[in-house]
Amino acid sequence: MLRQDTPTSLGTYEPYATLSLRVAEVVREQIRRKPDSRLGLPTGRTPTDTYKVLSQWTREGAINWERAKAFGLDEYYDVEETVSFRRYLETNLYSNINLPAQSQFNPLQFDDYDGLIAREGGLDLTILGIGQNGHIAFNEPGTPLLSWTHSIWLTESTLKANAEFFKGRPPANAVTMGIQTILASRKIVLMASGKNKKDILQKALHGPVTADVPASFLQLHKDLVVMTDFEY
Ligand code: PGA
Repeated sequence: MLRQDTPTSLGTYEPYATLSLRVAEVVREQIRRKPDSRLGLPTGRTPTDTYKVLSQWTREGAINWERAKAFGLDEYYDVEETVSFRRYLETNLYSNINLPAQSQFNPLQFDDYDGLIAREGGLDLTILGIGQNGHIAFNEPGTPLLSWTHSIWLTESTLKANAEFFKGRPPANAVTMGIQTILASRKIVLMASGKNKKDILQKALHGPVTADVPASFLQLHKDLVVMTDFEY
């Protein structure tokens, strides 16, 4: 069960466009409140419209990213640049906003990503998706609570879920922020879209805290906001 003393909030925003707008608002408010915010940013299907909204608002002058810094959650090893997560963030967000190039970080580029994040003052806000197998970032089932940024072999479930972005199979090896990296973020938004995420989200939020469902570790966080586009 969720710990009773945590201010975790759960919100359902239908349809997906509304969810995307609401998550974008959280990011906008974060940057307004703290212009030098350090953000953990996801890739995948779920956040694409959030990035569209953020891009639009930036064009309209509503967000100034000049002092912000962005840290990608994860990245494939040995990936063609065009299908890398770095390129995803570039295409969907970075190319549309005024976030300086030197403030865009990717875990593949650093031996000590956690040290880097700590030196930068720690993550203020991290946005996460959830995999159908319960992963957060690329922390696959079995990843221990005491994990920092590390390399990981992707599971069959993840390779299948991401196959559509690749001509062949996705690379099987990746680097990801660890569970501790994520839990150290001052605020976390877990974003889930589509009913195929309903069962795993239930398990993650209301089941036991276990490495079998890495997202369940989020129950240990004091400022977790769960935002979905389905009732659960
Ligand atoms: P998706 O991926 O947004 O493409 O569903 C989420 C995840 O695997 O974390």
